[in-house]
Amino acid sequence: MSALFSNYSLLSHNTFGFDVRARYAQLIETEEQLSKALADPRTIDLPRLVLGGGSNIVLTRDFDGVVWLITLSGRRLVNESEHAWWVEAGAGENWHKFVEWTLQQGWPGLENLALIPGKVGAAPIQNIGAYGLEISELLASVRVIELATGESRVLDVKDCQFGYRDSFFKQQGRDRFVIVSVTFRLPKKWRPRYNYAALANELAKRHIEVPTPQDIFSAVVTVRRTKLPDPAQIGNAGSFFKNPVVERSHFEKLRAREPRLVAYLQTDQRVKLAAGWLIEQCGWKGQTCGHVGVHAEQALVLTNRGGGSGAEIVELATAIQADVEKRFAVRLEPEPLIV
Ligand code: EPU
Repeated sequence: MSALFSNYSLLSHNTFGFDVRARYAQLIETEEQLSKALADPRTIDLPRLVLGGGSNIVLTRDFDGVVWLITLSGRRLVNESEHAWWVEAGAGENWHKFVEWTLQQGWPGLENLALIPGKVGAAPIQNIGAYGLEISELLASVRVIELATGESRVLDVKDCQFGYRDSFFKQQGRDRFVIVSVTFRLPKKWRPRYNYAALANELAKRHIEVPTPQDIFSAVVTVRRTKLPDPAQIGNAGSFFKNPVVERSHFEKLRAREPRLVAYLQTDQRVKLAAGWLIEQCGWKGQTCGHVGVHAEQALVLTNRGGGSGAEIVELATAIQADVEKRFAVRLEPEPLIV
């Protein structure tokens, strides 16, 4: 059985860097340890929190329960056909290192998602996406352990009910499963994706006309580094809000008033608005409030400027939501889980 730590600091287990404590914490390195933890009489009646890289969570207070720190490792090619490679990774593998490794093996596809903080197990939960690619497009299946029964199940893409930064794991499946591994299907017929303006500009700057997967990987890394703060230096959880999707009529009304509104037409005729732009228009970009603030290069990212707390972040987020709602009649929804 894995050791049970008491009064455990979660400071190094959340990318905001909030110093909250868990009543108990346990490292989960193997599935056997997970099975034992599920039935551990010392914690069986307590609330449970599954933590991977802690890159999409706001810890607002001490957690009076048990935190499972998932470090399940392993990455391997599980299948290959004429058309694709199937690659599996343990939930505790570092996401960026996994992406880098797949490219080194000669299995491209994930390069647009380079440098996203966190672990593999978190990728399907919020359907991570960047620079024109969402993980739902390349995911084959997710293996989970059901908390209530301890049984192992394999969910396919349909079961995951993916949406924009959304999945079954954030809806009906919330708090019901531990993700133990994820399998990706990487098509052999590779096509570069670099329609996204920032990425296209970076490639142009490098005089690359026909990019390789490695070129895209490298350009994505550069673009991310210029806009997004490194959580190792400034605590943050990436985009704090989702980009809101509004009805066409609402968009038309807003655009009549705000011609520079940044918006993207969706396939269902609704319109996604750039939340960063909305927040910037309300004057929040670069602002500091106590120990927390809004990133100066990207208004969608809230940061811990040092010594901040989850409660301060929630307070700041609430003030931003109120201003954006007042000016644009749009409700911003937080992306990270608030605990
Ligand atoms: N913008 C501003 N001011 C800002 C920030 C953005 O005006 O302070 C405008 C820019 O004009 C830009 C547009 O908003 O044209 C979009 O900005 P950006 O390209 O930086 O992307 P985003 O919509 O802010 C989303 C994802 C990011 C992902 C990038 C790139 C969400 C919530 N965020 O951000 O994902 O890296 O696109 O694909 O969908 C994350 O989820 O944690 C994350 C970082």
